[in-house]
Amino acid sequence: MNSFYNAEKVSANVYWVGAVDWHVRDFHGYKTQRGTTYNAFLIIDEKITLVDTVKKGFTNEMLERISTVVPLEKIDYIVSNHAEPDHSGGLLEAIGKIKPEKVFASSFGAKTLAAYYGIEAEVVPNGSSIDLGKGKLTFVETRMLHWPDSMISFYDADGMLFSQDAFGMHLAGSKLWADEYQESIIDYEMRKYFCNIINAQSGKVLALLEELPKLNLDIKAILPDHGPLFRKDFGKVMQLYRECAEQKPQPKAVVVYATMWQATEMLARAFADGVRAQGMEVKVLDLAVADRSEVMTEVAAAGLVAFGAPTMNNNVFPLMMDALTYVRGLKPQNKTGFAFGSCGWSGEGAKQISEQLNLMKFEQPIPFIQSKYRPTDAEMKAAFDAGFNLAEQVGNKVKQP
Ligand code: FEO
Repeated sequence: MNSFYNAEKVSANVYWVGAVDWHVRDFHGYKTQRGTTYNAFLIIDEKITLVDTVKKGFTNEMLERISTVVPLEKIDYIVSNHAEPDHSGGLLEAIGKIKPEKVFASSFGAKTLAAYYGIEAEVVPNGSSIDLGKGKLTFVETRMLHWPDSMISFYDADGMLFSQDAFGMHLAGSKLWADEYQESIIDYEMRKYFCNIINAQSGKVLALLEELPKLNLDIKAILPDHGPLFRKDFGKVMQLYRECAEQKPQPKAVVVYATMWQATEMLARAFADGVRAQGMEVKVLDLAVADRSEVMTEVAAAGLVAFGAPTMNNNVFPLMMDALTYVRGLKPQNKTGFAFGSCGWSGEGAKQISEQLNLMKFEQPIPFIQSKYRPTDAEMKAAFDAGFNLAEQVGNKVKQP
């Protein structure tokens, strides 16, 4: 096979053979402004092993990269760390061309691969290993991080931790290693990925961060299934995950709003100005132009979150319920919330937002504001004061040990 794609060497016995998706901008509702990668890895040992595959449509790219290292039929094993189709979409075609001796997956992974594709995988129990010759591959289940089937695997000969979605990010690029990118981009995209994909399971992340050191893995590189790879600063990577998972309140505010005829927008701006007057950083997101994954990213980074929308046909404006449903599913914690809105007559919007904030267990020390047609001066002042006072309260909370 002539190949126009190359494999890239990761370590003495491991190659990156994944695909770069420069084009994708919407990943099941997550806006991927920087594209993404689907990482797959080839271990050249006595038993040649492919770890994960790629999204459907990128299978040829992966197979071509593999074939620059080894003929496809020489591969003995395929490991599926995670059965979501961005990593298993190419599996059926790969199996057809490679004809591996075995496909390995976790117990839930085997069930999921059978349901999706009719693939029969051999179950590798949590903590078990397979012998590849020079090294062994050990499997650690990371159930619900972020699917029931999720697991990570460790190749001890080279110290490679195949971490699947964990520590990944949606970032397409021409460089293999995270330290070859601007630190601020890596930091932003990792946090964005965490809060949009993993946030709901923060407790399990903290438990895993406690467990990992006990396994005494001599990690030389962390190889996630999306974005660049890590060959150093593992402590920093783990610390970023710890910070994200702890969800401690931060001295920042975000105001998320939808508007029809600018009444709610006026209240949003007054609230934001109140926060500014308190000296706290604030970001204002109009749902007409901000998507739900951007909203969640900012909500995760903020201690104070305000949501405002008009009433439309006896309900909150639909864009707002979309954002709130998405955010609620991701279970952000330790937030101070505020609801506001505007209406012409019936006025259910702000109340419905406040109910959603209650369901998320956000503290709401100040009751919602609902204006009619156009905010009065008193309502504008109330919105400003709410921003000012809540920013002060959150600022004080952050200072507490
Ligand atoms: Fe990248 Fe959960 O799939």
